[in-house]
Amino acid sequence: MASRNPGQRSAPAGAQAGRVCQFKLVLLGESAVGKSSLVLRFVKGQFHEYQESTIGAAFLTQTVQLDDATVKFEIWDTAGQERYHSLAPMYYRGAQAAIVVYDITNLDSFGRAKTWVKELQRQASPNIVIALAGNKSDLANKRMVDLDEAQAYADDNNLLFMETSAKTAMNVNEVFMAIAKKLPKGDPAGSGRQGGNPRGGGVDLKEKPNEGGGCC
Ligand code: GTP
Ligand code: MG
Repeated sequence: MASRNPGQRSAPAGAQAGRVCQFKLVLLGESAVGKSSLVLRFVKGQFHEYQESTIGAAFLTQTVQLDDATVKFEIWDTAGQERYHSLAPMYYRGAQAAIVVYDITNLDSFGRAKTWVKELQRQASPNIVIALAGNKSDLANKRMVDLDEAQAYADDNNLLFMETSAKTAMNVNEVFMAIAKKLPKGDPAGSGRQGGNPRGGGVDLKEKPNEGGGCC
C-alpha cells in the first residue's frame, strides 16, 4: 500500500478535530473497471485478483482525518452491469461526492464514464464533487485511454482526476483525500449553511445530527 489506511473515526487525542462531517459518496462506472476493488483497498487495504461482480450495490464506510475535521464517508459501491443501471439514481441521489471509474485499458469504459458524468451533472445534486478515476494504472503497457486526454476532459468538466491502481494502491487514498478536502465542511459561523440546499454539505455528527441540512 502506498500509504496507511486512515484510522476509523478516531481523531487524534487533543487535536482540534472537533468536527465530524459525514458525506455520502457513490462509485459509478462500467462493470469490471475496479470500483469494488478501489473501495476494498481504501476501506480494508486489500486487493483480490478475483473480485466478484457486485449485485445491486454494496455499502461501506471509512473515515479520513483532515487537519480541521474528520470526514466520514458513507460509500455506495454500485453494480456496473447494465441491468442495474436503473437503480443508480437511488444511490447518487443526495450524494455529496461521486467517483466515476474507468479502466485505462478499456476505451469503452472511458466513454461510459463520460455518460455517467453527464448523468450526474444533469440529475445529481448541483454541488456534487465528482472525481474521475482512471483505474488499473498498473497495466500501463495495455493502455487504451490517453492520460492527457482524460486530464483535459476532467479539466473541462471541473472534475478531480487521478489514475489509480487498486492493485498497487497507487492514488487510492489520495483520490478519497482529494474529495474530502474539496467537500464543503462549512463553518460554525454559517458560511456553508445557506438554506434551500439540504444536500449542500455533510452532516455534523457532533453538533446537529438531525437538522438534515447545511454543513458541519
Ligand atoms: P462490477 O461490480 O461488476 O461493477 O465491477 P467493479 O467495477 O466493481 O470491478 P471489480 O472491483 O470487481 O474488479 C474487476 C476485476 O478487475 C477484478 O478481477 C479485479 O481484481 C480487477 N482489478 C480491479 N482493480 C484493478 C487494478 O487496479 N489493477 C488490476 N490489474 N486489476 C484490477
Ligand atoms: Mg463491484
